[in-house]
Amino acid sequence: MSTTYVNVTIVDTGEVYRCRSDESLLEGMERLGKRGIPVGCRGGGCGVCKVHIHSGEYDKRVMSRAYVSAEEEAQSIVLACRVKPRTDITLSVIGKMKKNVCA
Ligand code: FES
Repeated sequence: MSTTYVNVTIVDTGEVYRCRSDESLLEGMERLGKRGIPVGCRGGGCGVCKVHIHSGEYDKRVMSRAYVSAEEEAQSIVLACRVKPRTDITLSVIGKMKKNVCA
């Protein structure tokens, strides 16, 4: 599969960042270089990177029910470190890193 780039829009701030289709939404977000993003586990085990995806297609890996309930997952609430984008994505940040993203 060839690597493609997508644009990810953070609706909370209006920022757009580029993310490769073979990296997680979180990895792309880290390149924004904001302080405090994110010091989580990057492996689906801490819940700080929770986001709400409004539009776009993505592949997700198994997420801990401790952080994302089945109902949330059904509403496209996911952990950014467990999601790889397939198309342009629009999301808002709802986890603990929100205060850093939106600072
Ligand atoms: S960084 Fe820990 S769950 Fe995503």
